[in-house]
Amino acid sequence: MALEKTLSIIKPDAVQKNIIGEICSKFEQAGLRIVAAKMAHLSVQKVQEFYAVHKDRHFFGQLVNFMSSGPVMIQVLEGEDAIKLNRELMGATNPTKAEPGTLRYSFARDNTEDEMHKNIVHGSDSPETAATEISFFFQTEEICPRNN
Ligand code: RTP
Ligand code: MG
Repeated sequence: MALEKTLSIIKPDAVQKNIIGEICSKFEQAGLRIVAAKMAHLSVQKVQEFYAVHKDRHFFGQLVNFMSSGPVMIQVLEGEDAIKLNRELMGATNPTKAEPGTLRYSFARDNTEDEMHKNIVHGSDSPETAATEISFFFQTEEICPRNN
C-alpha cells in the first residue's frame, strides 16, 4: 500500500441534496483525509476539458450539461491506497447497480435508467489521472498534506 492522493468531486445532484457533509464523513470514516477543497460552479468549457476522455461517447453532452448545472465540491483526498479506496466507497457508475453501503447506492439508487449520469461523486481512476486531475483544479500551495 502507498500513501496516495486522489481527486474527488461531489457532483451537482449531491450538492442539491445538501449531503456534502455526510459524504465527507464517509471519506473520513474510511480513513481518507481532505487535504484540499473548493466549491465551484464549473463552466461548460471547463467540464468539457475535464471529461475530454469521454468526448466521443454518446453521453458526453448529457454529462457536460449535468456537471455544469450547479455547484460542485472539489476535493483532494489523501490516504493509503486512496485512489482505489475512494472508487470502492463510490460504487458502480450506474447507481442502480452499486453495492449497498456505497455512496452511489446510498444517495442515488432510486434514479431512473436515464438518470445514470446523476451519480453523486467523481473519483480519479488511476495514479496518472489522479495527478492530472488534481493539477487541473489545484495549485500546489492549495494542497495541505498531512505532514505539512
Ligand atoms: P467519474 O469519472 O465521474 O468518477 O465516473 P466513472 O469513472 O464511474 O464513470 P465514467 O465511465 O468515467 O463516466 C463518467 C461519468 O459520465 C456519466 N455517464 N453517463 N448515460 C450513460 O451511459 C453514462 N455513462 C457515464 C456518469 O456521470 C459518469 O460518472
Ligand atoms: Mg471516470
